[in-house]
Amino acid sequence: MNQPVSRSTWTNRWAFILVTIGSAVGLGNIWKFSYLVGAKGGSAFVLVYLCCVALIGLPLLMAEILIGRRGRGNPVAAMLNTAEETGNSSWWALLGWVGMLGALVILSYYSVVAGWIADYLYQAAIGVRVETAAAAAQAFADLERDPLRMGFWHTVFLALSVGVTARGVVAGIEVANKIMMPSLFLILVLLTVWGAVAGDMPAALHFMYDFKIKALTPGVVLSAMGQAFFSLSLGMGAIMTYGSYLDKEARIGYVSLWVAVAGSLVGLLSGMAIFSLTFGYGLDPSVGPELILQALPLAFAHMPGGQLVAVLFFVFVLFAAWTSAISLLEPFVSWLTERYGIHRAKAAWGTGVPVWLLGLAVCMSFSRWSDFTMFGRNLFDALDQCATNVMMPLSGLAIAIYVGWMMGRAPVRDEMKLGVRAFPLWFNVLRYVVPVGIVLVFFHVLGLLDWLK
Ligand code: PHE
Repeated sequence: MNQPVSRSTWTNRWAFILVTIGSAVGLGNIWKFSYLVGAKGGSAFVLVYLCCVALIGLPLLMAEILIGRRGRGNPVAAMLNTAEETGNSSWWALLGWVGMLGALVILSYYSVVAGWIADYLYQAAIGVRVETAAAAAQAFADLERDPLRMGFWHTVFLALSVGVTARGVVAGIEVANKIMMPSLFLILVLLTVWGAVAGDMPAALHFMYDFKIKALTPGVVLSAMGQAFFSLSLGMGAIMTYGSYLDKEARIGYVSLWVAVAGSLVGLLSGMAIFSLTFGYGLDPSVGPELILQALPLAFAHMPGGQLVAVLFFVFVLFAAWTSAISLLEPFVSWLTERYGIHRAKAAWGTGVPVWLLGLAVCMSFSRWSDFTMFGRNLFDALDQCATNVMMPLSGLAIAIYVGWMMGRAPVRDEMKLGVRAFPLWFNVLRYVVPVGIVLVFFHVLGLLDWLK
């Protein structure tokens, strides 16, 4: 067996639930979720997103944790170990590779976006205010045109993430999550209450939950499915690696349920806070990716105590991004330490360097290198599209096929420890619903379903 020398384990089950929620809840749930809800017509998107989390995300989350825990190793080792145990080809290890490398690609631009948030936090802290919509748009354009400023914050954010990973599984990752995640929930509740007081909560609720069947187009269904993927950190080896540190007795179904529920809840609550402010201040919810960076500073500038709320908000987003970034680094770092016995700190900083360089190129892609395009997209867009719309669905599909069809029922049932009724339900959803759903997303991305619109 390709067994690593020694494995850390989380101090307890709650620690695992916390760090996995930390990985799931990130820029995806706050920045991406809110602008997609805004751009895709609100409630229809929310409802479909929740269905996708339940029908595709949750079963896949369970399958990915299962591989990690059964294989007891970094993504490559976990795939090799389980393939050997269940008589499958060692080629399945490719799945581990795709995940590990995909995670680093995501991290390179994820860190740049997190850098924007850090920059906005700094601006808020020193009291910069934007009074008009034009000024807010200008502020964002200024940042985009300044690769040095962007590169600086990207460097700071990445160094912070590498620093935590370098300290180890328990001393670094677990401790950081134990501090950041509860603070994050506290800030979120405060913000939602603030949204209700200062903003227009009824309008936000109406927009997010008043289901209108007409808004339900195939395009909305499919992009909501993609979002479920990204927001649950699926297919990138992160969940697999975290699962490999999970103790043998923990019930995978139970812990996964916690993660899926908490992840969705954060998305919904931050959406409510963000849209209350957006509507309360008469802003347009459908502006696109710049929603939280343009609309919110404007709302903050016009509310009493706005500076404090702004600082709290950006700290909240930054914490969420930080705990996700750590989980994007961990698969490759654990592979380096286990495969080559490299010291963890060296492995972490060594992994950080290529990610940092790619991130610097991403910073340039908004200004000086904007002429350099792939398939008509700048580097930032191309990396995001490739990782989230190609690598993630394909790797999720492979996981569903591997656990659902290749590993065999007995080892899967043994590892999953579900009840007599729950097991077949989960297993069949994984075998049929998940692959069909992912194939639909994939065709959508390739534009093959455009005629459906
Ligand atoms: N789920 C994270 C977010 O929503 C992003 C992520 C993707 C993290 C894949 C790890 C792996 O921001």
